[in-house]
Amino acid sequence: MRTETPQTIRLEDYRPSDHLIDRVDLDIRLAPHDTRVSATLAVRPNPAGVPGAPLVLDGDELTLLGLALDGQALPADAFAASPGGLTLHAPPQRPFTLTVETQIDPTANTKLMGLYRSGGVYCTQCEADGFRRITYFLDRPDVLSVYTTRIEADREEAPVLLGNGDPGEAGAVPGTGRHFAVWHDPHPKPAYLFALVGGRLDRVSAPFTTMEGRAVTVAVYVEPGKGPRADYALDAVLRSMRWDEAAFGRPYDLAVFNVVAVSDFNMGAMENKGLNIFNDKYVLADPETATDTDYANIEAVIAHEYFHNWSGNRVTCRDWFQLCLKEGLTVFRDQEFSSDMRSRAVHRIGEVRTLRARQFPEDAGPLAHPVRPRAYAEINNFYTATVYEKGAEIVRMIRTLLGPAAFRAGMDRYFSENDGRAATVEDFLSAFAAESGRDLSAFARWYERPGTPRVSAAGSHDAQTGRYTLSLRQSLPGGDGAPLVIPVALGLVGAAGPLEATCERVRDGVFVLEAASDTITFAGVAEPPVPSLFRGFSAPVRLEMDLGDAERLTLLRHDTDPFNRWQAAQSVAMRLILDRATARAQEAEGAEGAEGAEEAGPAAAAYAAALGAFLDAEALADPAFAALVLGLPGEGDVANEMGRDVDPDAIHRARQALRRHLGRSLRGRLDPLRAALAPAAGAPFSPDAASAGRRALANAALDLLGIADPEAGTQAAEAQLAAATNMTDRLAALSVLAQIPGPARERALEAFGERYADEPLVLDKWFALQATIPEAGTLERIARLRRHPAFAMTNPNRVRALIGSFGLGNPTQFARADGAGFALLAETVEALDRVNPQIAAKLLTTFGSWRMLEPARSSRAGEILSRMQARPGLSRDVTDILARTLA
Ligand code: PHE
Ligand code: ZN
Repeated sequence: MRTETPQTIRLEDYRPSDHLIDRVDLDIRLAPHDTRVSATLAVRPNPAGVPGAPLVLDGDELTLLGLALDGQALPADAFAASPGGLTLHAPPQRPFTLTVETQIDPTANTKLMGLYRSGGVYCTQCEADGFRRITYFLDRPDVLSVYTTRIEADREEAPVLLGNGDPGEAGAVPGTGRHFAVWHDPHPKPAYLFALVGGRLDRVSAPFTTMEGRAVTVAVYVEPGKGPRADYALDAVLRSMRWDEAAFGRPYDLAVFNVVAVSDFNMGAMENKGLNIFNDKYVLADPETATDTDYANIEAVIAHEYFHNWSGNRVTCRDWFQLCLKEGLTVFRDQEFSSDMRSRAVHRIGEVRTLRARQFPEDAGPLAHPVRPRAYAEINNFYTATVYEKGAEIVRMIRTLLGPAAFRAGMDRYFSENDGRAATVEDFLSAFAAESGRDLSAFARWYERPGTPRVSAAGSHDAQTGRYTLSLRQSLPGGDGAPLVIPVALGLVGAAGPLEATCERVRDGVFVLEAASDTITFAGVAEPPVPSLFRGFSAPVRLEMDLGDAERLTLLRHDTDPFNRWQAAQSVAMRLILDRATARAQEAEGAEGAEGAEEAGPAAAAYAAALGAFLDAEALADPAFAALVLGLPGEGDVANEMGRDVDPDAIHRARQALRRHLGRSLRGRLDPLRAALAPAAGAPFSPDAASAGRRALANAALDLLGIADPEAGTQAAEAQLAAATNMTDRLAALSVLAQIPGPARERALEAFGERYADEPLVLDKWFALQATIPEAGTLERIARLRRHPAFAMTNPNRVRALIGSFGLGNPTQFARADGAGFALLAETVEALDRVNPQIAAKLLTTFGSWRMLEPARSSRAGEILSRMQARPGLSRDVTDILARTLA
């Protein structure tokens, strides 16, 4: 248990290491409780450091067994050692070797940082600071070393031994039942990219030849018997490798590329050099167990980790404040890959939905921080939607501002100037500045300012002159007033289609808002236009513009930009829900039964009619897009839009009412649509985007049927559940049933739970589905499921599925007025903190928006958080989140 009081680390305090470590030779003898690590470090003074400084190595829960300098044992007064560090008081001021022997217990390691065992497989996780749990080291990303690793283990227990880089010598250790393998990684890397794996694993593999003609063996390792479920991931690796060559000119640089799936993993996956280690959720897939969303996520995460080989590994980060340098950039790269593999428009809408659902609330609450934070107490708490998703939006804005050619040239320059280095955000921006000749210093404010900027827009049309004037004003609450550089992709749309208007300040469809406010004028505008602003979501801002529903529905019909067509429908629905939710909240209860279509009013009717017309015209041409247009903003989106005095029950009722109205209005279309989208009998399953899109729309129709006509919906869902040939359709049917209380639901849930009793990843979907039922009985259901044999606090996926989904996806029950939902979360965080502080802290961030709630609910949340803060013995991870959440 960590007991240190949190210490704040600041960007402004950065200074280079006093020592460097050029080479690391590791000899790791794996054993369940008594693993021995012998590390030989080639150390030298750093010319950029302080001469004669002590050598201060990081450690965490280590037992020191031996220490030698240039082969000589050190006298006891020459060093100080504890589980948390090793200091040489007066190291030689010349190159020397230090040999350190440590002992660790991988079986006891439930934090899943450092070396641990997952389902009997030895594996490591070293980002951000896990390597110090293996051996004493300069565990900071600007110390780059060449690693040679000898791994030894029992032959039966761990027939497969994997390390970073390329394989070398391997063989038996005579007379012991043990064997070894040596791996050598020629590319200097920081310790956080170190990895090893030892265990009993199945392997699928394929050859790849790089654009430079290098032969590579690509392999994916999974739990025995699951080989066939790794084929999709293997194919995704090969496609990623080809794509990074074509899109960014980046070839692979070793003879092997290995991916290993493990079932206990704190995050999604990890980009260790040549040996990516994955949460098995992002590797394993077949039609019986994986949904279309799972396939898409696997493709994206495989690509993400692979792309890190350049954006993260060849060019790494100088310090953890620069985390977005690898993460924002790599998210941007994986988003581009997925857009090329799938439908760009559909993918973009998905990206923005995630950004708004996760990053916007973070940026609006107490955990808000700049994309490049300036201070942290626990770096593991900064792997956030802001660093990742907003970080990716910043890179995308650079491309929008510079255009694709200068952007690509800037990327090439960034890679070549920084190859083999630990770089900064400044290095990144200077590459683009050099290639484009532009000054990006004002743009750089995006990295420094927390909060989501608002842009308000107002237009006026002069029929006489045919001019349209558009005024834009930006604001960032809490900012210092210096404006951001905001690319606004835009166009004008008329009653019958897009307008050909001209404005000299718009280049390639983009106006750059650089001042606090600005006004631009379009000529040749014969009719009053509807402006289509932030096409493709060209900047991560909130747009405020007083458009009427009729104008928005014109955009839905006629805009050339698919993102803004979707956005138009969302905006209309948002206003309808907001109006109703706020009216309801003021009414003070008692209106339970009166939610019928008859109450809906002309605005909701016009919305439903527009969606009906849209479906008739386009549903079958682009089902994936149509499914998105039919979807309403989430309850969380509505809460964020309100910003204060949030009553989740009122939002839930208002949103349900609009869904019901939409379902009833479209009722006559739903069955024919489902029939038209059904696959031909006997057609084989394909996870491709077009097939997934047809399933998405058919299931959106089923969902509307379920709310419009629960009886017919139940029947249809039961029939689909019985006939489904894939997990997407089965889970969609089960989700519809889950929303309709009654015996059919309980029967279906029970049967599903039994059928997949031995499939933990499928049970996760089942846990999450039940945890998000918006009914009072859900708390009891969760209590029951916590005792399910498959549930375990030691497995992050299980905890996220059952408890995380509750906190994130069940606003009415999590934020119950009686505080019971908050209490459930808090109890879980406290219990989990003793097992896995990182996951406990992550779970605690579900309280991030507590101040937005109406006073009764927010004071419940505040009390529970304060009570937790008073408990002794909390981890640094949880202490840090608590302090910031309550600040
Ligand atoms: N670097 C990993 C990724 O984004 C995320 C990660 C961070 C994994 C810390 C484990 C621990 O690809
Ligand atoms: Zn990453």
